[in-house]
Amino acid sequence: MQNIITVDGPSGVGKGTLSLELAKKLQWHFLDSGAIYRAVAVYALKKEIDLEDEMQVAALAKTLPLTFKVTSNQLAIYLADEEVTKLIRAETTGNAASIVAKHPLVRENLLQRQRDFAQMPGLIADGRDMGTVVFPKAPLKLFLTASAKVRAERRYKQLLDSGICVNIEQILSEVEARDERDRSRSASPLIPAEDALIIDTSELGVEDVLQKAWEAVIKTFPKR
Ligand code: DC
Repeated sequence: MQNIITVDGPSGVGKGTLSLELAKKLQWHFLDSGAIYRAVAVYALKKEIDLEDEMQVAALAKTLPLTFKVTSNQLAIYLADEEVTKLIRAETTGNAASIVAKHPLVRENLLQRQRDFAQMPGLIADGRDMGTVVFPKAPLKLFLTASAKVRAERRYKQLLDSGICVNIEQILSEVEARDERDRSRSASPLIPAEDALIIDTSELGVEDVLQKAWEAVIKTFPKR
């Protein structure tokens, strides 16, 4: 399946928003790979497995009873019968996900699960290593960047809007710690693919980012 667009970048950069918009516009499937790592972390914590224990977390990742249900523009996430959509988005879960995501065996065991999302008519894949490791042959690879400060401010507003009270300095230090962990790990570090189109979203609104991405989509997939 050739119709794949990868959208990579650090946390809070706007990948999710852009990916969902592209998926809606193109009527293609959507892979939120971060949600898979988050689900592994939630499941490991539930089973009281040490997040640093690579073998145990990898075993769990292999048989993770995870399902996504897409309704209009919303994504509902289930672990076995339990809906974990909200829990998965918590800051603490994001930090735990970044720990399980550094284990090479965990990443390996999640590879096929992610590739299985590549179905007709097409796929928008959102993550950190979509263009470098999971779909290296994707015809269009986007890599979004923005300063840590801008991303922390966006995350802060998002959390406030969803009724979660947080401290902006704490968010900024967590964003920086997560970036450092994601960039410096040996397995699939967060780096743009050589052939990625880099979009700096620091000074851009959602519509501007979408427009830039859409220009690239039209060029790459003229017969979409
Ligand atoms: O995109 P996100 O914030 O939901 O991702 C949560 C964590 O999962 C992030 O800190 C790093 C990890 N992750 C990853 O290593 N590879 C991916 N493709 C997606 C997420």
